[in-house]
Amino acid sequence: MSTLVTGIGELTTNDPELGRLTDAALVLADGRVAWVGSASAAPAADERVDVEGRAVLPGWVDSHTHLVFAGDRTAEFEARMAGEAYAAGGIAVTVEATRAASDDELAANLRRLVAEAAAQGTTTVETKTGYGLTVEDEVRSARIAARVVDEVTFLGAHLVPPGADADEYVAVVIGDMLDAVAPHVRWADVFCERGAFDADQSRAVLAAARAKGLGLRVHGNQLGEGPGVGLAVEFGAASVDHCTYLSDADVDALANSATVATLLPACDLSTRQALPPARRLLDAGATVALASNCNPGSSYTTSMAYCITTAVLQLRFTVEEAITAATLNGAKALRRDDVGHLSPGARADVHVLDAPSTTHLAYRPGVPLTHAVWRAGVRLR
Ligand code: NIG
Repeated sequence: MSTLVTGIGELTTNDPELGRLTDAALVLADGRVAWVGSASAAPAADERVDVEGRAVLPGWVDSHTHLVFAGDRTAEFEARMAGEAYAAGGIAVTVEATRAASDDELAANLRRLVAEAAAQGTTTVETKTGYGLTVEDEVRSARIAARVVDEVTFLGAHLVPPGADADEYVAVVIGDMLDAVAPHVRWADVFCERGAFDADQSRAVLAAARAKGLGLRVHGNQLGEGPGVGLAVEFGAASVDHCTYLSDADVDALANSATVATLLPACDLSTRQALPPARRLLDAGATVALASNCNPGSSYTTSMAYCITTAVLQLRFTVEEAITAATLNGAKALRRDDVGHLSPGARADVHVLDAPSTTHLAYRPGVPLTHAVWRAGVRLR
């Protein structure tokens, strides 16, 4: 079965040679992009969909979420809006609710959020464990996640469980927990931050995960400057996420490495942090991604469009930089070359906007602009 998507007013391919096309068409076949070019030269296909001048771009790649959880933290959010500071300690509230939930409840909540994201154009989702924090609960989270998304990250080092000794807990994370979870995940992550894991503990987690053959990611520099970015670069992590507070040395290190700086602006706004120094990173030549960080504590949104709007209006990305960050660079943060672009051979993840150009994502803030979505050639909306 092949589909010709034609009548494309503006096509963002993220392909270095094709770039951005007008009056374009795409052919999707067997889950892949089979052809891209001018609408007037398009080949025939089994089915034809005319998008009537709308803008088309790759599906969003949301490279940072925490979707295996139960409960919500509305009360914490309300307290924050009334002036209380965000503290990572709120994670423990979600840990308690998650441990108490059944597998079916966790899976249903995860599916609900992945479907909510897909309806807004997100076609690749990474998600993490990290609300279990026992061997049993972390394995359960990883198993459930792996049934629903293809990029799963082990985040046993999310928080030292209340009452536990930090070094003893790290020994479990890099021992029994890692052994049990590794078969279900592709990535490992550590929350390297005051109140979570210090540099030595983070280093131990990253070294053990690397020895186990897992790819590495780091939560770093969310609540203040610290060692997270430096460690991520030193270990060749695929991504360091948050990057809200960066020293000049952090920016230089990122600009001279293959580690993607993943910004999570919805989280910074929801936790009333400063906004990350996006322009410094972009101007220095770092590879910058945008992700939702959807989780019930610090960023309860699946909307990548909201992240784009914020990136343009508040972080001073150009629209094109923001689109690249939420597609191609999200894929780089996951070391994927099959998604985030619409070159021939890419996975047929296609997002049609109800707008003539991607500029409308920032120009019309808050307006739902997703018209149609295909994931691997299957129409989702
Ligand atoms: O990325 N920083 C650590 N982890 C999450 C927060 C999770 C929570 O507050 O529940 C984050 O913001």
